[in-house]
Amino acid sequence: MNIINFGSCNIDYVYKLSHFVKPGETIKSDNLNRFPGGKGLNQSIAAARSGLKVYHAGCIGKDGEFLKNVLTESHVDITYLKISDVQTGHAIIQVDDKGENCIILYSGSNYMLDKDYIDYVLREFSSNDIVLLQNEINNVEYIIESAYKKGMAVILNPSPFNNALTKVNLDMVSILMLNEIEGFEFSRETEPTKICNYFKSKYPNLKIVLTLGSEGSIYSDKNETIFCPSFSVPVIDTTSAGDTFTGYFICGMINGMKTYETLKFASAASALAVSKNGASSSIPYKSEVESAIKKLVPNKQCLILPQK
Ligand code: RIB
Repeated sequence: MNIINFGSCNIDYVYKLSHFVKPGETIKSDNLNRFPGGKGLNQSIAAARSGLKVYHAGCIGKDGEFLKNVLTESHVDITYLKISDVQTGHAIIQVDDKGENCIILYSGSNYMLDKDYIDYVLREFSSNDIVLLQNEINNVEYIIESAYKKGMAVILNPSPFNNALTKVNLDMVSILMLNEIEGFEFSRETEPTKICNYFKSKYPNLKIVLTLGSEGSIYSDKNETIFCPSFSVPVIDTTSAGDTFTGYFICGMINGMKTYETLKFASAASALAVSKNGASSSIPYKSEVESAIKKLVPNKQCLILPQK
C-alpha cells in the first residue's frame, strides 16, 4: 500500500519573538531561520520517517529545488513532483517565547496543480493506495472526487481552513484529521464531543481524528470515541506538530495498531517535534518515537467518551 500525498512545499522564514506583532506595532527579531516546510512536505516526511512508502505530488519553483533533497533524504519518492517557473510557496512564521506560532502563507507554485497533472498522477496508483491531502494547494475538491471515483481511500487534513472546504462532500473522505479551530469552522461547535457528534450525524461513515493541542487527541467514528492525552514536554516550537501527528497516525493505522495505541504513537511523535525548532527538521524517526514512548509522561489519564 502506497501513500500519494498531493501537498504543499514551502520555504519557511521563522522569526523568534517575545510576542506576536500587534496591529500598528513594529518589533525587531534577532533570530531568523530558513527551514523547509509546508504542511504537505512535512506530512510526507513524517509518514516516510515512520516507515511508510510515500510519494509526494505537488509543485515547487526553481528557487525551491533544495526541497527535493529534503524530501529524498527522508526517502520520500519525488517522481511526480513538478517544477514550474512560479516562485515556490513560502510561510512567514512568528514563534513566541511560549513556542506558539502564527503564520502568513504565500501559495506561489503550490497553486500550479492543473487537472491534467492530477489525472496523470492518479493514473499511476491503484484503489489499494491512499490519497493524503491538506488545504495548501489548489484543486483539492477535484483531487478528492477523482480519488474517490477510483475507489481510493482519502485522508483529508483541512488545514488551513477556508470556505472552499465547505463545498467538499465529506462522504468521499475516509478520515478527516483536524484541530479544534477547523472543527469549529465546520460545525460552529467548540466542545470536542459536539464537534465529533456534528460529523457523526452528517457523515456517518467518516472517521474523525480531532487534535486538541496540549490536551490530547480524539478518534471518533460511528462505533467508538476514544480520547488519548498528549505528553508533557518542554515546548520549543509547535510548528509541524499537527503534521507529525498526521504522518504517524496514518502509520499506526496502516500497520493495524489499536486505535488508542495509534493516537498514543502519533502523540509521542508530535511531542518530540515540539521539543525542537523548525518544521520538517523537527520530525522524528520511528526508532526515536519507539524509544521515547516508554519514557514520556502523559498529561492525563485516557478516558473513553460516552456516545451520544
Ligand atoms: O504546519 C506547519 C506548516 O504550515 C509550516 O511548515 C508552514 O509552511 C505552513 O504551511
